[in-house]
Amino acid sequence: MSELHERRALLPLLSAHPPRRSALTCRMRCGDACSHDIPNASDNPYFGDVLASAVSRRGLLKAGVVLAAAGAVSAAIGADPVAAAPNPNSTKKAAKGLRFTPVAPNTADAVTIPEGYTQQVVMRWGDALFSDAPAFDLHNQTAAAQQRQFGYNNDYVGLLPVDKKTQLMLVNHEYTDEYIMFPGYDAQNPTKEQIEIAWAAHGLSVVAVSTQKKGGQLTPVVDHPLNRRLHTTTEFMLDGPASGADLLKTSADPTGTTVLGTLNNCSGGLTPWGTWLTAQENFNQYFANAGTVTDPVTAARLSRYGVSGGASERKWERFDPRFDLAKEPNEVNRAGWIVEVDPYDPTSTPKLHTALGRFKHEAAQPRITGDGRVAVYMGDDERFDYFYKFISKGKFDSSGTPKARAHNMTLLEDGTLYVARFTGNSPASEIDGTGKLPSDGAFDGSGEWIALASGTTSYVEGMSAEEVYLFTRLAGDKVGATKMDRPEDIEPSPVTGTVYIALTNNTQRGTAGKPAADEVNPRNVNKSGHIVEVMESGNDSGAGTFGWRIFLVCGDPADPSTYFAGFDKSQVSPISCPDNVTFDEHGNLWISTDGNVLGYHDGLFGVATSGKYRGQVRQFLTVPIGAETCGPWVTEDRVLVAVQHPGETDDATFESPTSHWPDGGSSVPRPAVVAVWRDGKSGKTGQ
Ligand code: FEO
Ligand code: CA
Ligand code: CA
Repeated sequence: MSELHERRALLPLLSAHPPRRSALTCRMRCGDACSHDIPNASDNPYFGDVLASAVSRRGLLKAGVVLAAAGAVSAAIGADPVAAAPNPNSTKKAAKGLRFTPVAPNTADAVTIPEGYTQQVVMRWGDALFSDAPAFDLHNQTAAAQQRQFGYNNDYVGLLPVDKKTQLMLVNHEYTDEYIMFPGYDAQNPTKEQIEIAWAAHGLSVVAVSTQKKGGQLTPVVDHPLNRRLHTTTEFMLDGPASGADLLKTSADPTGTTVLGTLNNCSGGLTPWGTWLTAQENFNQYFANAGTVTDPVTAARLSRYGVSGGASERKWERFDPRFDLAKEPNEVNRAGWIVEVDPYDPTSTPKLHTALGRFKHEAAQPRITGDGRVAVYMGDDERFDYFYKFISKGKFDSSGTPKARAHNMTLLEDGTLYVARFTGNSPASEIDGTGKLPSDGAFDGSGEWIALASGTTSYVEGMSAEEVYLFTRLAGDKVGATKMDRPEDIEPSPVTGTVYIALTNNTQRGTAGKPAADEVNPRNVNKSGHIVEVMESGNDSGAGTFGWRIFLVCGDPADPSTYFAGFDKSQVSPISCPDNVTFDEHGNLWISTDGNVLGYHDGLFGVATSGKYRGQVRQFLTVPIGAETCGPWVTEDRVLVAVQHPGETDDATFESPTSHWPDGGSSVPRPAVVAVWRDGKSGKTGQ
């Protein structure tokens, strides 16, 4: 057994990771966040704090959780008991748009879809965007080829119209897994070529796809003039109030305005003016030698963002000093932003919007406020981190002219950044951490948007506006933002205006020394996550207050801690670890999952948010071994998902893959985008 294999063999034993997410995924995607201290060590008070030691511990004990030692906690957060694979809702009695026969939970190395539907792999890692790309050859990969091919680990997927027969497919490539990408990969000694391939396999793809008259098939248009690959050496531009700050200057960029590349882009959103917002998430893991930093202020900032240690996992610092904090201390400040890309102009320089703050951005979803400005909702995907909103200073011009579009493309450069504080309306003593509903029958309450900065004005004591934008987490700490269970994707309903936040899980909630359950994060050792609805005042997205209530508390419906908006639990699909979300045109929420702890593979689920089927979760598909479900994009024509990190299990290598999806046989797994549509005349998705 090589040293590498020995270390990887140890990983499950050492694991602090969510039980069903492979330790390898945690290392490669998040820089092993689960094994490190929680970056939010602030004493920022939280609801239920006072009762943490009494009530919540009692609640934990009731739930069979032992707090005595870390080992015991790890054991306690092991997999839930698996009920016999339930598929209770084989009924087609469901809300409009969800009348398919739900897929049973399973562990197949396949994308499993409902009866009567067809699937197609639209684009895989290595497929060409341009005809000058060589045919994909796993044993002869080059950086030059990868720059002209579809990247690795697709996450966000969106479509924008081009003409009657063509759409632009927008895809993030969040991260690379060198262990299963490269033959004979030696993690201690990656080659320069391997590193340059990984740089090219990160980033973004814009690919034109042609549609059919009937059916949901999408055919990539190689060499379409709008096709574009953006990767780790593409030029991006910082804008907004912090651009040009001293802390953004490097030896390669003394202006503090030009950044090369985009890293760890997770989810995103589309603007009403036809641009793409994409979110830089776990950027911390790419930067080496934080341990050499001696200045206490800088060290505290790095620590709050989870930047730590010596060599990085991928060792990029060996071939580009900008990834070495000992040589370029400010480069890390140039990552962790929301990026805006104009996909209709392949020569445009994408913008990094400093006005939207810097954190581990999961997604960014805009909507127009009652007074015509743009609100952008954003989650910071870290245990005990925060939920944010930006509101533009300027107003959206809906006239559709080129001049209006140019104006709209400046809206995210100036505005006000807020962080959310949630307050429950039930007595804290009734929130016992088991998920038991309080006596008023709901986890609900009110909240306020706390302003952090507006343009060059800071509202946070002891921090300049520049510091608020650059170290937004620290600003949230100071103003008492609510510590959440990993805010992931966010989506306002196009029908009701209610905003949905997916909180994926937080197995440290309520464990020794950590914040206990509160009404908006009501379960200790929250393995399966939950979804919160936010109702802005008067259906406006302006500053001020909001109402909220929990829509789903996820898990096996047989688990008494779960809640499906009051719907009959015998009629729902089990769901665990909600991550990316989207709406269909009927107002149904579609939820993709990452890290299912119920013993089945991740999947995509649809759920009505209003009417008599509100809360009826129905599973639409499952993904292959090791994969998470990303992307989702749901229209009447098709459902699109990104199958991310297939075969990324702790025992997988390039030579011994544990998934062979999508190519079958003994092939190496390839992340890919899949389209699914209903057979028959209509070709529609889900009636
Ligand atoms: Fe890249 Fe928070 O998921
Ligand atoms: Ca309540
Ligand atoms: Ca995600």
